[in-house]
Amino acid sequence: MSYFDQIDKSRIPQHIAVIMDGNGRWAKRQNLDRSFGHKEGIVAVRRAIEAAAKAQISYITLYTFSTENWKRPEEEVKALMALMIQAVASETPDLIKNNIRVKVIGEIDRLPDDTKKALDLCLEQTSICTGTTVILALSYSSKWEITEAMREIAADVKSGKINIDDIEESLIPQYLSTKGIPDPDILIRTGGELRISNFLLWQIAYSELYFTDELWPEFNEDSLYKAVLDFQNRERRFGKTSEQVSNNS
Ligand code: IPE
Ligand code: IPE
Ligand code: MG
Repeated sequence: MSYFDQIDKSRIPQHIAVIMDGNGRWAKRQNLDRSFGHKEGIVAVRRAIEAAAKAQISYITLYTFSTENWKRPEEEVKALMALMIQAVASETPDLIKNNIRVKVIGEIDRLPDDTKKALDLCLEQTSICTGTTVILALSYSSKWEITEAMREIAADVKSGKINIDDIEESLIPQYLSTKGIPDPDILIRTGGELRISNFLLWQIAYSELYFTDELWPEFNEDSLYKAVLDFQNRERRFGKTSEQVSNNS
């Protein structure tokens, strides 16, 4: 039976977040330049999105470029930005055909104008789609996002829009860039590193973490479904006891 067939379709995770790591090592292993790894990484992105759509996963968030990645060699950053333009332009027609909506989170103003333009067009053209939503985390870091949120909350208190007493746990997500999007059920990280690298720190408070040694360009449909199967075999207790969870109390 295929991995897809083994998935319990009545318990599909609503939101999967992915730290797509290992492009550089994948290229290096074959004595290729790191940029080849990024290119092949885009093929893997396509596979992951299609697999998510096939399983009717509502949201898939892809960590595409972190705030810290701006510190990489200028050549690599340039190559990544150029690749993004190409990928977005060539993939948009298929995204529309597959009813996939694209959203972006992150400090978009830092992106070069032509990259921003290509992205804007994709966001606009896929905005009518109602199937799976792909959220690209671009020039994103969780500490940046939380800092922004704090600044906005402070401004709203200052202007009288909200009171200090209104600042409750349930208010914070309204100020995050993931506003309106349910927290990830699973966080997948490829490439073997066991860390979060400044990704969705608030939102993954209760996500199931799944680490794999597979390098991102190797990631395929089965890799995603294996992670879903692993998730379906876990018991999410949210602080309760196992007995409470099985009695549904
Ligand atoms: C992830 O792969 C892609 C980005 C961070 C843009 P890496 O480029 O980090 O690949 P490794 O970790 O060096 O192998
Ligand atoms: C995390 O990968 C960021 C993305 C996948 C976009 P990195 O390769 O940048 O992470 P670190 O620096 O090894 O933690
Ligand atoms: Mg890396």
